[in-house]
Amino acid sequence: MSVQFINTIDRNAVGLRAAWMVQAQLNSKPDSSIVFPTGNTPLPMYEALGRIRNLDWSRSRLFQLDEYCQPEGMDAFPPGVETFAGFLDRVLWSRVDAQKFYLKDMLDDPMQYEGLVRANRGPDLTILGIGMNGHIAFNEPGSPSDSPTRRVDLAEETLVHNFGEERLNRDRAVLPRQAVTLGLSAILASRRILLLATGSRKRGIIRKAFGQHIAPSVACPASWLKMHPYVTVLTDFSV
Ligand code: PGA
Repeated sequence: MSVQFINTIDRNAVGLRAAWMVQAQLNSKPDSSIVFPTGNTPLPMYEALGRIRNLDWSRSRLFQLDEYCQPEGMDAFPPGVETFAGFLDRVLWSRVDAQKFYLKDMLDDPMQYEGLVRANRGPDLTILGIGMNGHIAFNEPGSPSDSPTRRVDLAEETLVHNFGEERLNRDRAVLPRQAVTLGLSAILASRRILLLATGSRKRGIIRKAFGQHIAPSVACPASWLKMHPYVTVLTDFSV
């Protein structure tokens, strides 16, 4: 197994290390293509990236990892639900001079988006979080390693995590329950993968995904990362 584990002191240290890796990537290859995630986990990384001065983004290509789809018949998300494009703009993208590729503009043609991501032999760096059910991006349990970029139903556990049980019970009909996700196949085509996991409640799923005696399987999509030659798992807990 070629997974490297780095255990830091807290979520801010995870964010800082992740930001340094992005910086190193851009310094060594200014025209890097980088896939960025949303969620709570990467927020300290975006804050740390915002503090790095003189980072040259001008030749880089930035991609979204996934994006919500509108529920049938709706033309806007309800209050408090942000598109992932909006999230990325808010936390980083609007402040950097890079070429940005918005999945939200291509929700009807996921494979065309995958083609852009795969240009020049795939992304240089893909940054991921991990769901409590082992999903990466929105490749939910049941996703094989050759999953294409596609529209998916979000797992119930994911809906509860993202919207909270109370809101889900109240507003289910108007909340996004589908998304387009970069497929595992395109993620695994990345030259380098960085997975961030913070909070000790994620320890169990990290052990399940990367345990030495557990074979990769659709039951835990993150476990497919063990087949990749260059994965770094950055945590604020010992694994
Ligand atoms: P989180 O989400 O960072 O909000 O825990 C991670 C994920 O679902 O990939």
